[in-house]
Amino acid sequence: MPYISPSYNTVSEPEIIVKTFTRQVIPDEVFGSPNPVWLEIGFGVGKFFLNLAERFPDINILGIEHNPYRYFKMCEKILRLNIHNVRIINIDAPMAVRYLLPAGSLSGVFINFPDPWPKSKHEKNRLFSSFFIRDLARCMGPGAVVRIQTDVDWYAEHIAEYMLLENLFYCVERFEPDIKFPTTTFQDRFIRQGIPYYTQLFKKRLD
Ligand SMILES: C[S@@+](CC[C@H](N)C(=O)[O-])C[C@H]1O[C@@H](n2cnc3c(N)ncnc32)[C@H](O)[C@@H]1O
Repeated sequence: MPYISPSYNTVSEPEIIVKTFTRQVIPDEVFGSPNPVWLEIGFGVGKFFLNLAERFPDINILGIEHNPYRYFKMCEKILRLNIHNVRIINIDAPMAVRYLLPAGSLSGVFINFPDPWPKSKHEKNRLFSSFFIRDLARCMGPGAVVRIQTDVDWYAEHIAEYMLLENLFYCVERFEPDIKFPTTTFQDRFIRQGIPYYTQLFKKRLD
């Protein structure tokens, strides 16, 4: 079994890694199956990502994480657990939805506790922008759902404002806790500490 190690350059890359930048990611090719594809942006330590893959074996789960250390650790975990319905990409999410993912290729998207970047001088680092929403909508099939969670009340409003800006999505649920999906590491901490968080679901319009 190929393994990511310090001698990385001397071993073949595991197939869970999606090589980026050279060409578009064609999900049927990289997963080797035509199952629907769900994307998680910013999987962090990967608790949600791995549990989602286990709970939904007939869905192909793509993970994007821009932090190389978290990405590297996730490679190790996936190989150790021998999970087959996942692939991961080490890239900035806005770049992926702009350049890598084909139109209509995603059936679901999860964004759990994105960094809010509260200071105005850091605003440019926020994930949600009109460009990002447009690009994300392009990658999603009609009726596909984006589920977004945050613990920051003003950021929940900011997200909703952007998601609804161009009429590409409509809101199906606001602030209803749902138990269909696993919890994330951040979410577990908020639940433990009694800190409220906000879950929102947006559906891509059919036209
Ligand atoms: C606050 S943490 C939340 C981690 C995890 N989703 C959870 O709920 O436990 C945000 C994660 O998103 C990743 N991230 C932030 N901006 C990103 C971007 N533009 N592209 C890809 N990953 C990003 C960070 O590296 C980090 O792992």
